Amino acid sequence: MQTRVHTLRRHRDLGGGSFAVEVDGPIPATLPGQFFMLRTERRWPVQLPRPFSLYDRAADGSWGSFLVKGVGEGTRALLDQAPGEGIVLNGPLGQPFPQDIADPVCIAGGVGLAPFLLLARAARAAGRDLRLLFGGRNRLALAGLEDVQSTARVFAATDDGSFGFRGLVTDLLADLLARGEVRPGDVVFCCGPDRMMHAVAALCARAGLRCFLSLETYMACGYGVCNGCTVEVQGERFKGWPYSRTCMEGPVYEACELVHGVPGG
Ligand SMILES: Cc1cc2nc3c(=O)[nH]c(=O)nc-3n(C[C@H](O)[C@H](O)[C@H](O)COP(=O)(O)OP(=O)(O)OC[C@H]3O[C@@H](n4cnc5c(N)ncnc54)[C@H](O)[C@@H]3O)c2cc1C
Ligand code: FES
Repeated sequence: MQTRVHTLRRHRDLGGGSFAVEVDGPIPATLPGQFFMLRTERRWPVQLPRPFSLYDRAADGSWGSFLVKGVGEGTRALLDQAPGEGIVLNGPLGQPFPQDIADPVCIAGGVGLAPFLLLARAARAAGRDLRLLFGGRNRLALAGLEDVQSTARVFAATDDGSFGFRGLVTDLLADLLARGEVRPGDVVFCCGPDRMMHAVAALCARAGLRCFLSLETYMACGYGVCNGCTVEVQGERFKGWPYSRTCMEGPVYEACELVHGVPGG
């Protein structure tokens, strides 16, 4: 983990109020699902930095980007910076999606797409095309679609039918299960709004699919000091301890490890 001030290169508009916030390197090697705590060097309006998955990274680490949607003061401050200004990054932090699953079925909602672009690039480099179900309210909510379409096998879903499958991403998953595109024994990786992850986990449980979720828990420090990000857990890797810090043992958990399911879901 390193803390460094990086120079903002540009905001690449991905539509629907979302941008790829691109910064100069060096960006350390980062596994899909790991995250960084970000704040602006100047004019940061809130007390604490905010967590973001690394969205993209040059192979040599000379630049990296974060997929940011303006939802509050912190995200808006990141989007208000001008090229040349400083962005403070601390990371990479947390645990990634499991690395021993050869061909996961990835499910993203909105900015939950962020961890999957790097995973898609890694799969392509290994000679496979990642299966990615990407859902949003409408076409505009599918920010980053063009980026992943060029590297993965994307199945898109919109609630209003303005692009791809009409319906929720869980309806799309059920459809792909019925058509044999997703099969028993497949493993699901999911990142998105809490309610979506909750529904995906429930469907996976009914269909007998293992399911890993990247939680978007609110975080204060990001590196295990404040205990502000805990969830109640069960399972061997926690050695009998009933709570886990999302920033340390997470943000990725297997659904069955979460005693109360997805927080807020
Ligand atoms: C590991 C991880 C990776 C993430 N990756 C991304 C990413 O790639 N792109 C992205 O856009 N976002 C990502 N997020 C979410 C992002 O960090 C938050 O949305 C962040 O809080 C936004 O900061 P803000 O100051 O703009 O908004 P905030 O003021 O923090 O509010 C944003 C939203 O969070 C709610 N909120 C505020 N406080 C709490 C609280 N204590 N508990 C629960 N909810 C609260 C607010 O009601 C509001 O809906 C990630 C979060 C985590 C944990
Ligand atoms: S955010 Fe402080 S311990 Fe996790």
